[in-house]
Amino acid sequence: MLSPKDYIEKNKDAFLNELIELLKIPSVSADPAFKDDVNAAAKAVKKSLLSAGCDTAEVCETPGLPIVYGEKIIDPKLPTVLVYGHYDVQPPDPIDLWTSPPFEPVIKKTDIHPEGAIFARGACDDKGQMFMHVKALQYMTETDNLPCNVKFMIEGEEEVGSVSLEWFLERNQDKLENDVILISDTGMISKDTPSITTGLRGLSYVEVEVTGPNRDLHSGLYGGAVANPINILNKMIASLQDEDNRITVPGFYDKVEELSKEERQKMAEAPFDLDEYKEHIGIPDVHGEKAYSTLERASIRPTLDVNGIWGGYIGEGAKTVIASKAYAKISMRLVPNQNWEEITELFKKHFESIAPAGVTVEVKPHHGGQAYVTPIDGIDYKAADLAFKDTFGKDAIPLRSGGSIPIVSLFEGYLKSKTILMGFGLNSDAIHSPNEHFGVWNFLKGIETIPYFYKHFTDLKTKS
Ligand code: BES
Ligand code: MN
Ligand code: MN
Repeated sequence: MLSPKDYIEKNKDAFLNELIELLKIPSVSADPAFKDDVNAAAKAVKKSLLSAGCDTAEVCETPGLPIVYGEKIIDPKLPTVLVYGHYDVQPPDPIDLWTSPPFEPVIKKTDIHPEGAIFARGACDDKGQMFMHVKALQYMTETDNLPCNVKFMIEGEEEVGSVSLEWFLERNQDKLENDVILISDTGMISKDTPSITTGLRGLSYVEVEVTGPNRDLHSGLYGGAVANPINILNKMIASLQDEDNRITVPGFYDKVEELSKEERQKMAEAPFDLDEYKEHIGIPDVHGEKAYSTLERASIRPTLDVNGIWGGYIGEGAKTVIASKAYAKISMRLVPNQNWEEITELFKKHFESIAPAGVTVEVKPHHGGQAYVTPIDGIDYKAADLAFKDTFGKDAIPLRSGGSIPIVSLFEGYLKSKTILMGFGLNSDAIHSPNEHFGVWNFLKGIETIPYFYKHFTDLKTKS
């Protein structure tokens, strides 16, 4: 029988070309101007599912952007794997910093990817990784190697907080019934160190607005006598972290899970080179919460970051003005046990309370989600680990990630199943940044590894 490796060898050019076609569609969920493209991407995903062997596939309308659902049920008595992914992408901005246009995919060599990487928005996050599952299914159906049932749920609003997904879950619980959820929307440590993501951070995203005078003022006539909203906003934001870089919102850390010494020791064993880390992103030094390592700061500790800040005059030359308003978008990454709605409330209360008398402050919550941790003693984790062993020749390292996929904890609530996060991206793939790319090697390795997960999971499940 044809192994995944042989099948990939024969079909890799076709796989890459099909992915390139999908990447040409600018399915930016954040911008309503791209609505038609988002719909076109949904249609393309449906088509690819049908041609990969799904019995049925549909574009399901929601109050927001559509969700693509497809399935192949070979025997209701066999286990069912539910694959989740997203076909929407982040906006490509700042577009000037791309070395080739974000929606004109090209394969270029890099130091880390000498065999080439596909450069395009969504190449890694998540079209490329989602598409590995489509092609793995194609392998399994065409070579008669599909050992269980499979369902696909590919959404179009992940990058904007999955607003319609809960609506869809509520209405389709039976249809989505499964034994495990499989997602490739995270990363791995390096090309020779596979890892399984065992945790994701939660998120609370808010926008703040500080209002001073009822109109922009001459900064000479009024300067010094009225509160400048931009000065005030910066002062307020600066006060949100203390000298140890701990967040000052009262109650913020109350429920934070503290890891045991053993767990922290285990984390410290993961291969990590601080100098390389600094060099890759071009920083003179790292920065963060006192008494925690860089890996810990970026995974098991909560954060508060300004994502954007604006107000006043930013055009050419100088304009002497005190703006009427100043704004910022702030995200807080959360860890297990912190409830995002509670944290949003704590932030709102605190931020309003620190505003000086000369301004008014409004805090507008955007979206959020709970953190997630998955145990490593279940058969789902075991199956993923065995799959990595088959194709990398070594065990995967369990690793908590700092990113968020808020729907993962919702899945557990609605569908009562655990999620396995088998990522094939690298931190250097520049997701959300200009020049996002995905290694050709990583893409093909994903297609090769996924069928082994199905095999081991079915074996372990039917034995248990
Ligand atoms: N795929 C990412 C999340 C991710 C990337 C997790 C790498 C772990 C490792 C996802 O598409 C994403 O960008 N999520 C957003 C949250 C969402 C609510 C907008 C994030 O983490 O900022
Ligand atoms: Mn993603
Ligand atoms: Mn993303």
